[in-house]
Amino acid sequence: MSTHEIRKKYLEFFKKRGHTVIPSSSLLPEGDVTTLFTGSGMQPLIKYLLGEAHPGGKRLTDAQKCVRAEDIDEVGDNRHTTFFEMLGNWSFGDYFKEEQLPWFFEFLTDEVDLDPQKVYVTVFAGDTERQIPRDEESVAIWKALFAKKGITAEAVVLDTEQRASEKGMQGGRIFYYGVKKNWWSRAGTPENMPPREPGGPDSEVFYEFTSVPHDPAFGAHCHPNCDCGRFVEIGNSVFMEYRKNEDGSFSKLAQRNVDFGGGLERIAAASLDDPDIFNIDILKPLILAIRAAAVRPHIRSERIITDHIRASIFLIGDGVIPSNKERGYLLRRLIRRAVMHGQYLIGLEGDFWGSTIDVVIDSYTHAYPELSEKRVLIREVFMKEQAAFARTYESGIKEFEKIAAETKPGGVISGADTFLLLATHGFPIELTEELAAQKGIGVDKESFAREVAHHRELSRAGQEKKFGGHGLLLDTGELKARNEEELKKVTRLHTATHLLQAALRNVLGNEVGQKGSDITTERTRFDFTFPRKLTKEEIQSVENLVNKYIKMDLPVQYKELPKEEAVKTGALYFFKEKYPEVVKVYYAGHSLEDAVSKEFCGGPHVAHTREVGVFKIAKEEAVAAGVRRIRGVIEP
Ligand code: SER
Repeated sequence: MSTHEIRKKYLEFFKKRGHTVIPSSSLLPEGDVTTLFTGSGMQPLIKYLLGEAHPGGKRLTDAQKCVRAEDIDEVGDNRHTTFFEMLGNWSFGDYFKEEQLPWFFEFLTDEVDLDPQKVYVTVFAGDTERQIPRDEESVAIWKALFAKKGITAEAVVLDTEQRASEKGMQGGRIFYYGVKKNWWSRAGTPENMPPREPGGPDSEVFYEFTSVPHDPAFGAHCHPNCDCGRFVEIGNSVFMEYRKNEDGSFSKLAQRNVDFGGGLERIAAASLDDPDIFNIDILKPLILAIRAAAVRPHIRSERIITDHIRASIFLIGDGVIPSNKERGYLLRRLIRRAVMHGQYLIGLEGDFWGSTIDVVIDSYTHAYPELSEKRVLIREVFMKEQAAFARTYESGIKEFEKIAAETKPGGVISGADTFLLLATHGFPIELTEELAAQKGIGVDKESFAREVAHHRELSRAGQEKKFGGHGLLLDTGELKARNEEELKKVTRLHTATHLLQAALRNVLGNEVGQKGSDITTERTRFDFTFPRKLTKEEIQSVENLVNKYIKMDLPVQYKELPKEEAVKTGALYFFKEKYPEVVKVYYAGHSLEDAVSKEFCGGPHVAHTREVGVFKIAKEEAVAAGVRRIRGVIEP
């Protein structure tokens, strides 16, 4: 059965059992700032698990695109990928264990035709501290299911991983593990969950690849959660019926939910009884294409390239662009690592990348038609990053060769040199490690980490010195200027913003209060409370008054005062902000008493108001009921 057939069969199976089939959500979680990428099927559905009604009803099923960035370093073995599809089915306060476990077992053994002898399951051993009972209900269900297949399923308590590797299988089929293995929440164990987070015991299904011998490097004895690769998890039914309270205790949610997730690619690998996930039909052609084009074929590189190209395609398809931050940074790493392995380690030549991107997109056309629609963009973004990396590489490799030549065989490249390669040639540490490994040398990771921390410290200190102890941290807390030129412009706009607030209060009255402000090198944006639209005349008066203050060429200075005293001077402050005990009051005027503007502020500001230039109100508009917004610009 092809991977696409398994996906289709799965969705049909659950559709027949009353589920609404929903499309995959984006890889970029909407309105969830806690995670960079959608890494499980339940993430986009969390509010429905908490009780909100889903338009599709109480039973949903889907195949969700997932990216787990944290797995990037594992990629290269036979089963880890950064991108994968998670098959899901959900019950929002509808069915529970009695239906979920039999359905999934039926799907695996009757639809996908897995040998039930190779299926093992785990269940929750309970948490006495939090009074969450061991999951004997699931055990009873599993026993009955295996019995129907003629298998006597014994339950064995393994609890912790350490215990598990000491004890091993003991002839069991069902295994109890504790909170680390059989409890699921977005934050992990009950202890790690923040208040209000939902979670619950889970029951996981493992497939045993009997062709893989146990590797004692992972523990004395094998067991389902052993990482040696003999057992691979292919599905997880979370019985999400708890939430954490503010005091750390747990109570039941208003509804009992099921959150099931199963790795599509792993199920496909199990259906072939082949532990190498890269041998499934949607990945194998890529592996073979890479192998055929490589001057020095190498399985690890083939897998890394295959995974990284596929993940990059899906990420670009969902709107990610390479950058040095967060999501963009993962994409940059994926592309550069793929290119590094492809061009520099195994020697792929010609227009390999473009044609391979097409192969991947074509194989996903039916399931994810949006990839075909974005084909040109995906190719462009990938190729641009590839070209940028190729340029960096040429200069970096020369430097690397020099450093490596000075390192003794079996020795390590220092943290300082690794950092130099990163800072001047953009070589991520992984690349240096990879290249070093080729030469039989290592990288001193610890001293590298110290270098990075030290560098961060230095640049922070530098910023503070440059920007008067505060950086240019405006009310939003963001650093607004990256160089002297930008700093000058933003500083002028910053002073203009103070003068604007003073003028607004002068013209419109003291009901004007700051609601927010945002300054870029182009303009200032000031939000304030005022009940109605400003008239043309009022706007003109405000603008004139700001320009009058500017022409007076008032000195702009500050006084440091204890907070209480600072408030008494009548200086304005932003009610949302938490201020320290001693604050700076910036004022425009010859003395604090007769200043035209005074505000709590970290600076920086121009020394004299005339430096601001000519101020113009570009726009006045509403942002919310009772809140107006002014955009102001300055001319030199
Ligand atoms: N949330 C569970 C998981 O990610 C099941 O969907 O494993």
